[in-house]
Amino acid sequence: MLARFSSLVVLVLLLVIHAASVAADGQFVHQGFAAAGLALDGLAVVTPDGLLALTNATDQAKAHAFHPAPLHFLSESAAARSFSTCFVFAIVSPYDELSSHGLAFVVSPTTNLSTANAGQYLGILNATNGTSTAGGRILSVELDTITDAEFHDINSNHVGVDVNSMISAQARPAGYYGDDGAFRELSLNSRKSMQLWVDYDGEARQLDVTLAPVQVSKPKRPLLSMAIDLSTVVADPVYVGFSAATGVLLTHHYMLGWSFSLDGPAPPLDFSKLPVVPRLGPKPRSKVLYVALPLATALLVAASLAAVLVIARRRRRYAEVREDWEEEFGPHRFAYKDLFRAIDGFEDRNLLGVGGGKGVRRRGGEHRPPSTPEPRPAAGLLRRRGELLLVYDYMANGSLDRFLYDRSRPVLSWHQRHWIIRGVASGLLYLHEDWEQVVVHRDVKASNVLLDREMNGRLGDFGLARLYDHGADPQTTRVVGTMGYLAPELVRDGKATPATDVFAFGAFLLEVVCGRRPIERDGHGDPVVLADRVIERHRGGSVLDVVDPRLAGSYDAAEVTLVVNLGVMCLHPWPDVRPSMRKVVHCLDSGQPVPDVSPSYSSYSMATLMQIQGFGSHAMPHDQSATSVGASSSTVFSEGR
Ligand SMILES: *[C@@H]1O[C@H](CO)[C@@H](O)[C@H](O)[C@H]1NC(C)=O
Ligand SMILES: *[C@@H]1O[C@H](CO)[C@@H](O)[C@H](O)[C@H]1NC(C)=O
Ligand SMILES: *[C@@H]1O[C@H](CO)[C@@H](O)[C@H](O)[C@H]1NC(C)=O
Ligand SMILES: *[C@@H]1O[C@H](CO)[C@@H](O)[C@H](O)[C@H]1NC(C)=O
Repeated sequence: MLARFSSLVVLVLLLVIHAASVAADGQFVHQGFAAAGLALDGLAVVTPDGLLALTNATDQAKAHAFHPAPLHFLSESAAARSFSTCFVFAIVSPYDELSSHGLAFVVSPTTNLSTANAGQYLGILNATNGTSTAGGRILSVELDTITDAEFHDINSNHVGVDVNSMISAQARPAGYYGDDGAFRELSLNSRKSMQLWVDYDGEARQLDVTLAPVQVSKPKRPLLSMAIDLSTVVADPVYVGFSAATGVLLTHHYMLGWSFSLDGPAPPLDFSKLPVVPRLGPKPRSKVLYVALPLATALLVAASLAAVLVIARRRRRYAEVREDWEEEFGPHRFAYKDLFRAIDGFEDRNLLGVGGGKGVRRRGGEHRPPSTPEPRPAAGLLRRRGELLLVYDYMANGSLDRFLYDRSRPVLSWHQRHWIIRGVASGLLYLHEDWEQVVVHRDVKASNVLLDREMNGRLGDFGLARLYDHGADPQTTRVVGTMGYLAPELVRDGKATPATDVFAFGAFLLEVVCGRRPIERDGHGDPVVLADRVIERHRGGSVLDVVDPRLAGSYDAAEVTLVVNLGVMCLHPWPDVRPSMRKVVHCLDSGQPVPDVSPSYSSYSMATLMQIQGFGSHAMPHDQSATSVGASSSTVFSEGR
């Protein structure tokens, strides 16, 4: 009663301030949100002209905007009441047809979704209960622009109904049915405003979701129709509102207008009164891509103050203009078509390597060597229809394994190897600790290390990378990775963690020092495990025996010893004993000796075997060699290259 009364007071106040936004209890209309008084959190702000900007160009962030008053979704007899809502939204990303992650209309028992995660959780649930169907009592209608296999997403442009889970109970590709009955596709992140209706018929127990462009009146046939008794789902009272979340792509999620009604159709919105979706600034260009700035763009930009600066600089030196753009818009932004053009449409002759990713050829621009190995793993990235494209500074020298194993290539000096190792270590540290979420790379190996002209090493190929929150328990997943780099516990239970990356990094260290693959075959075709050879020498006190003979004895013995010791430590069968990447980077940078942790087992493979079998795993690969092996029906191993 008190709640109803206070919401009435709020509504009456609003009526005074902004006549357009109010009606009876359980019904409201917001043409713009200037006077809506929504409860906002996260990135959400209402701009002076009434636009509700749920997210701005911030990565891995979330936002919520709730109608402040609770609503009674259940009748006195505890049956779910009918409701109807309509809202106008726009998703604006600097990339063509690429954005992350999406937004949702939410019916929640609380406005406090502080424990929810950004990214694929859309600010609604978190890694703990992202796929649970129990409890929570949270209903959402998601507008999702990224395919998450984990949530069985149908594509990267869909509308779904989620009940206490990020796995949609029903989902459809975004679009609408015209009066002629034909289905017309819509792109959610087209930067265009669109309307979405969510209508629940309490009597028929049916939820309809309908999408349409703004200029189209409500289609008769809904996009999605689902039988559901909401009385078993929602709490009472509930809050209605929106949740949005970004991932790695810097995306704006905007809300322009919203109407809602219990027990009746949502009042229509007057489009002429809605705020305008801001235009995205001039299209970002990058020094990585050689794309001549078209005259038209230059003229457009000239209108702004920024252009004065740009043009002034341009007179001095064209290349510096690129640097300015780079700084102003950040390193991450690429339009697919620019990328496509810059690399001649993924022609094979520009291919630097095959696998999770293709190499990209740069066609111009300057590059100065960094003074320390750069932690940034990639210069930018974009996602498109289930593909993730990573844009690196031009990696003139291709992948590291070629230098290690292709005898026609010049021998990498110890100094170069050490530098590359430090670059990869700092990249991995960045993934593990410097992001809001932990990124487990899951496929650290020499063939995934790309070298630029100055032989700086960058960790590439994030085809297998996964994100999870710091401190969270990584979910069990498929075992993926490359034989010889797989930590025993990863083979055993499929949990990729920073410690399994550290293990792979250990294998990588020995690979770089010894110039040998982690698993090779001897003359009889029997597998030879590099780590075992190294540990044998390590124990015999003669680690320098294992150094790549191509170095011809020209190396810093203390550095080599440190790297080998680190490698051995990282390869420890017990994850707890392995150092963190922070520790690894510290040792590499400081030259501080590494404690001796070599175990008392006869060999690491023996210990590994014990560990795998001791836990009764059936996931033991039947072949230790670097060939493809299957460990369970969903297991994927790729061949070590
Ligand atoms: C995004 O919003 C947050 C919170 O309102 C603010 O701190 C941040 O500066 C904004 N970022 C951009 C790029 O506008
Ligand atoms: C939201 O809930 C968390 C605990 O789940 C609590 O720490 C926090 O103070 C709450 N925030 C608000 C604004 O009530
Ligand atoms: C998920 O949310 C619950 C509370 O809602 C919290 O206890 C838990 O720690 C969260 N899990 C993660 C991984 O953030
Ligand atoms: C998620 O888990 C937390 C506690 O672990 C719980 O409070 C919350 O209601 C759960 N949400 C859903 C939708 O299950």
